[in-house]
Amino acid sequence: TQVFKIAAIPGDGIGKEVLPEGLKVLAAASERFGLELEITQFDWASCDYYQQTGDMMPPDWKAQLAGMDAIYFGAVGWPATVPDHVSLWGSLLKFRREFDQYINLRPVRLFEGVPCPLAGRKPGDIDFFVVRENTEGEYTNLGGIMFPGTEREMVIQESVFTRHGTDRVLRYAFELAKARKQQHLTVATKSNGIAISMPWWDGRADAMHAEYPEVTVDKQHIDILTARFVLQPNRFDVVVASNLFGDILSDLGPACTGTIGLAPSGNLNPDRKFPSLFEPVHGSAPDIAGQGIANPIAMIWSGAMMLAFLAAGAKVPACYGQAHDAILSAIEEVLRSGPRTRDLGGEAGTAEVGDAIAALVRG
Ligand code: NAD
Ligand code: IPM
Ligand code: MN
Repeated sequence: TQVFKIAAIPGDGIGKEVLPEGLKVLAAASERFGLELEITQFDWASCDYYQQTGDMMPPDWKAQLAGMDAIYFGAVGWPATVPDHVSLWGSLLKFRREFDQYINLRPVRLFEGVPCPLAGRKPGDIDFFVVRENTEGEYTNLGGIMFPGTEREMVIQESVFTRHGTDRVLRYAFELAKARKQQHLTVATKSNGIAISMPWWDGRADAMHAEYPEVTVDKQHIDILTARFVLQPNRFDVVVASNLFGDILSDLGPACTGTIGLAPSGNLNPDRKFPSLFEPVHGSAPDIAGQGIANPIAMIWSGAMMLAFLAAGAKVPACYGQAHDAILSAIEEVLRSGPRTRDLGGEAGTAEVGDAIAALVRG
């Protein structure tokens, strides 16, 4: 079997509690299906490391990670000690940019057994992907504060949308939509108010649509789109969005399916020149950190996504695909009738849920 090298980075807060559960499940899958994962853990990319060294990561972080096949990442951020923009631009956002992880793939699914906060929705009604642009857009450090501390204080923060960056995320989204049953793509923009970049985004989507006649396209302003996530979630299949809009939609979507504690993500470099990064959508949750009550399922599902991505890009035995499916079935089973954490109305701890899923995966 092919050996895959995985960097495991817990980060901060509940990242340190959910990552071990993810690793537990990967170990169970390796045992059962004969996967060969060589896992190396790193304690940097954390606010603890920052407090010790004054930096989020060692100077050679890129060399240490570049040879990895994937990065399995918990969460970063501890605003009590390090400002969020410092910790995040010093770690996660650096990974996304320097490893050109230009797709952030975020599935949203309502599972059987999970109470839906939206009235009358059942599993199957909510099952879509948010495809988020992940390297440019509204996330920039271009700009500055002029006349600071005066009445004339003025802040400028630019957004950047390149044709290259926009077309590649649209292409990915069209391809994904084409491969799905509904073949429907929603383009999240704001072409009434944001009068330069957003009509341009719509234009890029229209131009590409000509190559995908089988896909139906619906361009929606982000404001009404958020309303429809709540009121008509069944209408969505693949939603493509800029960096910031995609960020917002990928917390709202999972909230509509019960909890953000389930939501996984893949920060993908589809060209496979660099390692891709798999992490929960949620953050370090300082409000519940240290109590052992965080939901580990987002982390565990992210691990399954990692196996599927690795398998798709290499000549590997079917066992990686089988391991992905087994982890997903185990998650479904536990959500139906197993222990659940407090965000799902249960009383179980993080490790109890991880143990239950690992046991089912082991078979
Ligand atoms: P958050 O996602 O950490 O928490 C939001 C709320 O959801 C909290 O009430 C938290 O308790 C709850 N929650 C989150 N994950 C949960 C889980 N697995 N189980 C149960 N409940 C869960 O968002 P925030 O409070 O805005 O951010 C906290 C810190 O995390 C900040 O430093 C922020 O910058 C950082 N952050 C990091 C990432 C990342 O590393 N990818 C993502 C989002 C936020
Ligand atoms: C996410 C997070 C990050 C983002 C933050 C922590 C910078 O919210 O992964 O969704 O905005 O991308
Ligand atoms: Mn987010």
